[in-house]
Amino acid sequence: MLSIFKKTGSYKLPVLLVGLVLAGLIVAGCTLKYYGVPGCMQEPVRKQVATLAPAATSTVSAEKGKKLYETRCSECHGQNGKGVPGDAPPLRGLVGSHVNLTNGTTVTADDAYILQSIKKPDAKVVKGYSVMPDLGVSDADAKVLIEYIKSLK
Ligand code: HEC
Repeated sequence: MLSIFKKTGSYKLPVLLVGLVLAGLIVAGCTLKYYGVPGCMQEPVRKQVATLAPAATSTVSAEKGKKLYETRCSECHGQNGKGVPGDAPPLRGLVGSHVNLTNGTTVTADDAYILQSIKKPDAKVVKGYSVMPDLGVSDADAKVLIEYIKSLK
């Protein structure tokens, strides 16, 4: 038994060297971002997932927001947030716009303003309309509704 180990031991060194060179190539390949090298295959996929994830999440929220919008908001704000003249202002194109309020001031419609408009409608009332009723929208629902409102172009 011992003698067999000794015999195989003689060509163990070259095999080990080839292995080391291959391992070195793979590591170098990964470092150089050469994705064709086996073992680095997951890298570009992982990157793709990382860049896609936030977009995918907000699409899902906007979809959920759309459903909520249609059941709770569209009767006043119209289909796809197009607004109902004299009834409720359009929400499409609201993000980043300047809104005239009944108290004579103007506000830029950012996330905080839209959130407040949903949660506490009487805090800032849009000029030309009667006050929106407080619908008791939860924070989680308000969040996806904002995603939906932002997706309206
Ligand atoms: C009963 C009718 C009614 C319903 C239902 C309603 N709104 Fe309103 N909404 C209004 C009116 C009227 C205004 C304008 C007066 C004000 O600011 O309170 C308004 C204003 C807003 C504004 C501010 C718009 C701007 O131009 O600055 C946002 C944002 C908004 N609503 C979101 C929603 C969302 C989201 C829902 C559903 C959860 C909803 N509203 C449901 C009537 C309604």
